[in-house]
Parts: sequence; structure tokens; C-alpha cells
Amino acid sequence: MDNGIHNKTRQKSTGSQLLPVEPFDIVVFGATGDLALRKLLPALFHRWRDGQIPEDCKIIGASRTTMSREIFITQVETRYRTHYPDEKNGTNDWQAFARHLHYCALDVASEDANWQELEALLDGREDKIRLFYLALPPGLFGPVSANIGARGLNTAQARIVLEKPIGHDLNSARAINHAVGKVFPEKSIFRIDHYLGKETVQNLLILRFTNSLFEPIWNANVVDHVQVTVAETVGAGNRASYYDTSGALRDMVQNHMLQLLCLVAMEPPNDFGADTIRDEKIKVLRALRPITPASAAKDTVRGQYRDGAINGTAVPGYADELGQPTDTETYTALKVHVDNWRWSGVPFYLRTGKCMKERRSEIVIQFKSIAHALTSPEAGHLHPTRLVIRLQPDEGVKLLLMTKDPGPGGMRLRYVPLNLSYADTFCARYPDAYERVLMAVVRNDLGLFMRRDEVEAAWAWIDGILGAWHSEDVHSQSYAAGTDGPTQGAMLIDRDGREWFDYL
Ligand code: BG6
Repeated sequence: MDNGIHNKTRQKSTGSQLLPVEPFDIVVFGATGDLALRKLLPALFHRWRDGQIPEDCKIIGASRTTMSREIFITQVETRYRTHYPDEKNGTNDWQAFARHLHYCALDVASEDANWQELEALLDGREDKIRLFYLALPPGLFGPVSANIGARGLNTAQARIVLEKPIGHDLNSARAINHAVGKVFPEKSIFRIDHYLGKETVQNLLILRFTNSLFEPIWNANVVDHVQVTVAETVGAGNRASYYDTSGALRDMVQNHMLQLLCLVAMEPPNDFGADTIRDEKIKVLRALRPITPASAAKDTVRGQYRDGAINGTAVPGYADELGQPTDTETYTALKVHVDNWRWSGVPFYLRTGKCMKERRSEIVIQFKSIAHALTSPEAGHLHPTRLVIRLQPDEGVKLLLMTKDPGPGGMRLRYVPLNLSYADTFCARYPDAYERVLMAVVRNDLGLFMRRDEVEAAWAWIDGILGAWHSEDVHSQSYAAGTDGPTQGAMLIDRDGREWFDYL
């Protein structure tokens, strides 16, 4: 009998099927920066190692530093080995991959003569897919696009990839979108939010819209509230000078956390087409209730880590790392409302922080408590049903349910998960989010990227909070590194008779 579970799916899946991509060239601007060396170039190496990078591909690093191609290649390999000590790659692998690597010293913002060198490396191949990846501060997005346009490098097959942050408020985001839009059509602009490339984030749509179980209960009738947590153990470290111009609200909420919220809250799209999904997400962003000066003190919390210890290691405070006092928040918690029919009265609690006690990103959908308890209090405490979608570190989905503790001894209750652990169910390694988003750009799959109106709607909402913090003097509360954030973060949810969910 075919019950839909074939033998081969009973075994661990090998996890990935390789979709070949067309030959392409990629220019990584900011190639000696942290993002390029820690994420982008390793991601391309991994795709190459899995056989996905066609032979006829150039990976061209561009940055201001003058250095030879050989030194660039050594730098890429050295940083790779530092960041991925467990990956065992022989020298032969690197030599073969390095054939794809090229380097061009270039002051991207000026009309430097070295653009000619870049043009030469691109060989005038107009038919070939061409990616310009701007791993650069957003202030350079306009000037670089203009230079690409002036040199006529924006061919029909060219795509521009913009790293977040796209600006630091609505006005600067609009200016960037306008400047880039003068050179590239919207269909060729890929605004990265690498969270959209995470396996469990992609799975959210599948979970919601391909199982009949969830959609009927995914609304204010049954859901009590939603929590989204992105906690990191790392601090601002060597990014403090960038981070201090940003803070947690701009760095994490404006993009990653709002995208997660959108995927949880959106209406079912008609299909999985890029614009169909983006049309639904933007409706959520537009339905976010503005946080005003009147509500900011109650519905938002800012925090900043002071010195402390994480896993037994002493950690300096943020201001000490920066070398000066500052009010920038390294933690924020928000109570958010999505003002539409589906979510009326259901709060979404968001929190994110650096130097927290553990690295954990998850979404918790907490369902309403049952109307009438049939068991006696002696049997055990009744917990609400929760669906926990864990993004990292141990990806998986858990449905937490009350069950009877088996065995004699009367009726005793236990709260246990139905557990879909990715590590146990699928292969040990699946591509990092950057591997997936890079290949999606080559394949022209815009679904994993933010459209202009999404970015601007998100900024419009964030600007309201920034304005309220400013006008109401909402300052960062201090928390010790290695803890759960400031007590005000716990109070934000506690006040509503709820608590942040901690299930390890
Ligand atoms: C980046 C932020 O976008 O995301 C960083 O700028 C943050 O501050 C990072 O550390 C978190 O990404 P991940 O994939 O490690 O959760």
C-alpha cells in the first residue's frame, strides 16, 4: 500500500539536490572585508566543491587595497581555514578553486582608471550572467552603481546585489533605491536578507501552506501570541564602529526580524512566485501598528551589554569595546501588533541581543490555553500548546504538547515535544544561507530578496520607533554580558501575564 511514505524517505535524506546554474561572473566589491572573507567567498567555495560552479566562472574580488592576485588568493584561503577549521579541504581543492579567483584593486567610488582592469576581466561578455555584489557601506551603493552604469557594465544579464543595511532610515533608503534604480531595473536588484536563505525560514512557508493542520488555527481565534527571538553570544567586536551607527533595531529588527514576522503573519499567497509572496509580505508591513511616543516607553526596551562572562570567558562591555560611552542599543525587545483581521489582539513579541547567554534564534507560536481543565492540579501543570520553529543552532520544529506520563501511578501529565530535528532527519550539512542566496541570484529567483517597497515600508515603521526613542528619551538599560538581557525585557512580556519561552 502506498501510504505516501516511501522507503527512501524513511532513510536520512541526502538533503540536497544540485540544481545546475548557468555560467556567471561575480564581482565582489569589498572583497577584503569581513563579510566577503567570512561568508561570501567561503560560500562560493562550498558551491564549487559541491560541483555547482561551472568551469567558465570568474570570481573577481575588488577592493581598494593594492595586492597581487596570488596574495588575494592566499588571504581568502587563510581566512577560510580560520573560520572553518573543521572543513577538511586539501591543497588540491584550493588550487582548483583558486583558478576561478581574480583580483582588481579599485577605488569603487571614483572614476578610477582601474575600472578598465575590471572591464578587461569581464571580457565584454554581454551574454553571460554577471553579478555585482556590493559588500560595502550603503553610502557607496549609489556611486558604485553610477560607475557601473557609466562604464556600460550593466548589461541585460547583469544583476546587482545589495547587502543590508539599505540606508539608516527611510530617506536614505529611498535615496539609495533611487540611485541604484537609475542604473538597474528593479528585476535586476537583489536586496539581501540572508535570513530568507536559512533552511528553517524557507521551511516556514512549506510548514504553513503545505500542511492542512496549521492554516485553520493560524489566527487570533486560536493563537495567543507569537514570540521571535534572535539571541547571539557574539558582541559587536571589530564591527563596533559600524554597529554604533546602527544598533540592534536597525541591524536586526528592520530586516531579519521583520521578515520573520512577515512570513509568520502573511496571508497565503496564490503561489510561491517571488512577487506573489512579496505582495503578501508588504501587506503585513503596512499593517504594523506604529509605535508612537505615547507607546514607546511601554512597548519597547533598549539595552546595552556591560562587561560579563559568556561560557566562562570574560567579555568587555560594549562601550569599552568602542572606547567611549554611547547609548546605542545592543538589545531590543518590542511588543508589536499586526492590525488586520487575522491577528487582531494577538501580540508579537520580538527580542534580539548581542552577548546574550546563548545563541538561539526561534519563533514560538503559542496557542490559547484550553477552555476547561479536565485533569486535577495534582496531575501536573497544564502548559499551552506551542509550536517552536528553531532557526539556530539546532534547526528543527517542535510541537509541544501535554501527554500522559506512561506507566502505573495514576494520571500524571508531562509536557513533551513532537520533534522534527533537522540533524536527525536530514543530512549533516546543508548549504549556508549565503550559499543559497548567491545561487538564487544566479538563477534569477527574486523570491528570497526584498523588494524596494518592502525595504521602505520596514524603514517607515522603524523610523517611528527611532523618533519615539529620541523624543521620549528612551535610553539603553544596562545588562551583564552572558545574561538574558535587561530585566525590562522580561517585564515587557511579564506585564501581559506571559513569559519568554525557554525550552532547551
Ligand atoms: C547580520 C547582522 O545581518 O546578521 C549581525 O549585521 C548579526 O550583527 C548577523 O550578527 C546574524 O546572522 P546569523 O546568520 O549569524 O544569525
